[in-house]
Amino acid sequence: MAKARTWRYVMTAAGALGAAVLGALLFMASGLYDIGASKPHLAVTHWLLDFAKRRSIETQSILIRAPASLEDLDLVTLGAAHYRGGCAPCHGAPGEPRNPIASSMLPQPADLLRVAPSWTSAQLYWIVRNGFKYTGMPAWPDVAREDEVWALVAFLRTLPTMTPEHYARLSAGGLASPSRSGREIAEFGAGVDALSRCARCHDPPAPGAASALVPRLAGQSRAYLELALRDYAEGRRASGVMRPVVAELDKESIGLLAGYYAELPPMRSAAAPEDAGMKRGRTIAERGDPETGVPACLACHGAASAATFPRLDGQSARYLESQLRLLKSGQRGESVQSRIMAVIAARLSDEQIDSVTRYFASVQPAAKPAPSTQRPARR
Ligand code: HEC
Ligand code: HEC
Ligand code: HEC
Repeated sequence: MAKARTWRYVMTAAGALGAAVLGALLFMASGLYDIGASKPHLAVTHWLLDFAKRRSIETQSILIRAPASLEDLDLVTLGAAHYRGGCAPCHGAPGEPRNPIASSMLPQPADLLRVAPSWTSAQLYWIVRNGFKYTGMPAWPDVAREDEVWALVAFLRTLPTMTPEHYARLSAGGLASPSRSGREIAEFGAGVDALSRCARCHDPPAPGAASALVPRLAGQSRAYLELALRDYAEGRRASGVMRPVVAELDKESIGLLAGYYAELPPMRSAAAPEDAGMKRGRTIAERGDPETGVPACLACHGAASAATFPRLDGQSARYLESQLRLLKSGQRGESVQSRIMAVIAARLSDEQIDSVTRYFASVQPAAKPAPSTQRPARR
């Protein structure tokens, strides 16, 4: 008897559930639900969505470990520079309120100055890397580039206490809006926010404002610069910072920019006295390491090497090191050229990476690459 009663309960419950699902489907099919963003959610819907969001983030980010060095100025600066073009148009920034278009989204992009402290670094990492479904919050354009996402997290950690002046300096490197006539503003716009203002990141005018994670472009050959930009544009090189930038450029602008930076005199390196590590680095650069099959770097990265191969002298050790690690792990992406370098990077030990990058960072770049390296290569 008890068995039959249980069975009846189960059937009734299943019937009620089926009716509820059918009812919900009919309601959707009728089109009576107002999907418009012009009216806010009911309080109960809002609570439910917010609850689901918080729980999802808390669970999904459980295994993420933040790196020890989030208070690192190079990370914060790079994060700020990307934030200005890639996030502030939706979220606003210190001294710069959101555009009314963004505040008319539902849900509204959060005021991060206020809410960022309510998340841990691991949770912020998860949010910035993955975005949110059904909200307009985008995922990071190249999810493999964990290092770039951490730069954004490092910046978000400093955001709540940042003054408008500090933000302007960090994110625009001291670059101001050009003084323009009314007509010029009318025709070209007013802001410094364009993603394609390269100087914000690559050669900011304020002294010491550049992040060591951003490569120097001056003195690189035209052929290499053009190739690198095309690799970003066509997705062969991964970077959630650079790919949105090149999306603003057409083929002609890429050629003009490569020509411009190739003509600039290379910047001088920070002078550093040679220590034992750098000496070992010099040996690797000049002769390689026959034991592990590492060829001499200068065979390809010297003044007389192929035009499409990059120069390393004058770059910061941090940038060179980050790229070697990306090449080693496959996170830099895959092009014909990067495949050549990935094989070599995989053979370098951590200690060798440290010494050879510090060596190259200490070399003063030659005044100008030899004329033969200026010839654009055919591909
Ligand atoms: C197209 C507009 C848009 C862009 C661009 C954008 N976001 Fe968002 N973001 C949103 C929206 C919408 C939400 C959802 C707010 C919510 O659910 O409460 C959101 C949520 C977030 C949250 C979670 C806030 C919270 O407490 O719910 C963080 C953190 C965040 N964004 C960071 C960023 C960062 C960093 C960038 C740049 C890399 C970025 N966003 C780019 C629209 C945007
Ligand atoms: C928000 C900061 C930012 C802006 C703005 C920016 N860049 Fe970059 N750029 C970077 C970073 C970071 C990298 C290294 C990316 C990587 O890991 O591949 C990079 C890499 C490059 C490289 C590859 C250099 C090499 O040695 O391999 C070129 C070329 C380049 N950028 C050109 C430009 C040009 C031209 C513009 C303007 C149209 C520009 N960038 C705007 C941050 C920026
Ligand atoms: C056989 C030629 C060759 C040799 C030898 C070589 N490289 Fe490379 N390297 C390349 C090429 C080609 C690229 C450009 C990859 C690309 O376009 O993505 C590159 C890129 C790099 C980059 C990234 C530069 C940038 O601006 O982003 C670093 C760092 C680097 N190499 C370090 C080294 C070191 C250190 C050695 C010596 C241990 C070395 N390379 C030996 C061919 C070589």
